[in-house]
Amino acid sequence: MSASERPPSQDSFATWLNPFDPAFQDDPYPTYHRLRERDPIHHLPDFSLWFLTRYADVQAVLRDTRFSSESASNDPNLFRNLRESGGELGTLARTMLHWMPLRDPPHHTRLRHLVNKAFTPRHIEAMRPRIASIVDQLLEPLLEVGRMDFVRDFAHPLPVIVIAEMLGVPVADQAELKQWSDDMALALDPLQVGARRAEGDRAAVEMTKLFQRVAEDRRRAPRDDLLSALLAAEEQGDRLSMDELLATCVLLLFAGNETTTNLLGNGLLALLRNPGELALLQQDPSLVRGAVEELLRYDSPLQFAARLAKEDVEIDGRMLRAGQRAVLLLGSANHDPAEFSDPDRLDVRRHDHRHVAFGFGMHFCLGAGLARAEAQIALETLVRRLPGITLGADPPVRRPSIALRGLSSLPVEFEPRRAH
Ligand code: HEM
Repeated sequence: MSASERPPSQDSFATWLNPFDPAFQDDPYPTYHRLRERDPIHHLPDFSLWFLTRYADVQAVLRDTRFSSESASNDPNLFRNLRESGGELGTLARTMLHWMPLRDPPHHTRLRHLVNKAFTPRHIEAMRPRIASIVDQLLEPLLEVGRMDFVRDFAHPLPVIVIAEMLGVPVADQAELKQWSDDMALALDPLQVGARRAEGDRAAVEMTKLFQRVAEDRRRAPRDDLLSALLAAEEQGDRLSMDELLATCVLLLFAGNETTTNLLGNGLLALLRNPGELALLQQDPSLVRGAVEELLRYDSPLQFAARLAKEDVEIDGRMLRAGQRAVLLLGSANHDPAEFSDPDRLDVRRHDHRHVAFGFGMHFCLGAGLARAEAQIALETLVRRLPGITLGADPPVRRPSIALRGLSSLPVEFEPRRAH
């Protein structure tokens, strides 16, 4: 029976996709396969939600202007986690109202255009030597030890140092940024159902204060950094308000942080569990660009994106009504056998890189070039400088999160460098 002939599913959350199930959190891909085969456009009537699991449907919705990102921010489901007890939006939610991924044109176009200038391929190429030196700095003290917690010691600090430097945050102020970013990620995760809202709000307040301070410094003495460039746009009148500027800084700090940490952690874990693929990279580091794309596909750091239907939309015989939300399971789309041959196999020499790990269409990840550069440099350095790298004695630990898929700990061992 094709999906279009099937009656709308009334199955319970738990039967099909239970995000609270530790087995699902550990390995969501078997569930995705079942959904794709048996109910690829899965309706959860109680929540007015549709889960889309096939590559073609996910990609189609991402480029369909009948779906909105903006109205998602007015959706009580999305911001349920972020409301105070009286129902008021907390600080984090109010900051997010200015975030470009939650805006439609024309606001999205204006915000994206202003920030895009700092993320051109030329800018990212220019960042490569600095990223390489941060990678070396992080690894250097560990080389003679022969083991580390890859997430704590490397994947966690790298992205925050890079984006904080790009924005122009002084080194002395960088320490707390990562914690605030983590607090925001947990407050936003659907699994937390509001339990971490206060931490998320506090983090948004503190981060905004920090950017306000740096902005005041840069207004007096501009430098060659992203914050100075955004201030120049703000000073040209109504193109960027101060609230939008500060919210954009918080967004950039947040959006690129845990996602990139997760790409590095999930990616290294996948390679260590597939030693044949790791060996290919060790023998031929020129495979690194393709390998990073494959790792993005294989265990995607962001597992879903969401859109709200602005009008009734029919997809393959199912009717998504105006006001209902489509949850686009990016991780499932990236394992769709209709698009990728043998999708559950890690293949660093795979040629098609049409994954949707960075989304698709107008909201395609602004930081994709930066994330790719960080991951390519990190991976190339790891295979060169950490010979014999293997999983450590303690098992990896997954973060309790479903949207952002990643690890909180990944112990590894390698041949220590001999002391001079
Ligand atoms: C491996 C790392 C990353 C992954 C997997 C990732 C994933 C994504 C995805 C899937 C979207 C689209 C969301 C949607 O359509 O609703 C997105 C958008 C975005 N990402 Fe990333 N991202 C990563 C790194 C970064 C970095 C390093 C930055 C910036 C420093 C960044 C900034 C953004 C921004 C600003 C948007 C919104 C773009 C828009 O609305 O036009 N991301 N990202």
